[in-house]
Amino acid sequence: MPDTTAPRVVVVTGAASGIGFATAELFRDEGATVFGLDIAPTVPDGVTYVECNVGSKESVDAAIARCAGGGRIDVLANVAGIVQFGRFEQISEAEFDRVHAVDLKGPFLTMQAALPHLRAAGGNIVNVSSVAGNVAQPYATAYAAAKGGLTQLTKALALELSPENIRVNAICPGTVDTPIVSHVASIFPPDLDPRVADRLMMMLPGPAIAPAEIGQAIVYLASPAARMITGAVLAFDGGMS
Ligand SMILES: NC(=O)c1ccc[n+]([C@@H]2O[C@H](COP(=O)([O-])OP(=O)(O)OC[C@H]3O[C@@H](n4cnc5c(N)ncnc54)[C@H](O)[C@@H]3O)[C@@H](O)[C@H]2O)c1
Repeated sequence: MPDTTAPRVVVVTGAASGIGFATAELFRDEGATVFGLDIAPTVPDGVTYVECNVGSKESVDAAIARCAGGGRIDVLANVAGIVQFGRFEQISEAEFDRVHAVDLKGPFLTMQAALPHLRAAGGNIVNVSSVAGNVAQPYATAYAAAKGGLTQLTKALALELSPENIRVNAICPGTVDTPIVSHVASIFPPDLDPRVADRLMMMLPGPAIAPAEIGQAIVYLASPAARMITGAVLAFDGGMS
């Protein structure tokens, strides 16, 4: 039986920026032992940085083994991600592969590596997908395909692991105020077709979501209070999808 009195061991990918940074802070503040996996080292104070490229099996296996040094992982939060914007004809094969390596294969690799350790702890997984995986958005086809894949990967794995009570959930944010969004503005196609441009996520009405708001939802889904929630896809997008 897992020791429920020990601090939870939480692995957050993408913890060096934006939603992952805020999520790692929240788990830290509730007393968890938090590992932040990222290609950049700027994780919050009190979070242990583990260098990891989530698109590489070798890198992921080494990072997860380090996090599981104490014999358990209670929570895996897959937050690392990159965006892609541009006209479909202009997506190179390399860019398509890069987006899928980080946004889809990354969670596949981390979940596969962490599963034995989650099993030992009675743990659970929260994946950060996107509104772009739920509704069609023009000029983001590779990203949408990867995030749609991640949403279905979440649901399929949740079903497969439900007999073991290992929960797997996804959150699909709309526009969140992080560096990824300012980056998007710089890579937007210059000549958007006005007939479809308003379907882009940048057109979300109202103020952007704060990273910690998504972090709080991740913390909730990872908590015992959500013990009956698995296979859920939580749209966190102000009604966009
Ligand atoms: N910001 C939004 O509006 C928004 C909307 C929907 C979904 N999302 C999703 O939320 C997640 C977090 O995005 P964010 O807005 O916080 O972005 P961000 O750019 O602030 O943070 C992303 C983090 O992922 C890390 N990362 C990138 N490639 C990596 C790799 N190969 N291996 C390990 N780490 C890597 C980056 O270094 C960075 O720390 C992403 O999956 C993104 O697709 C964001």
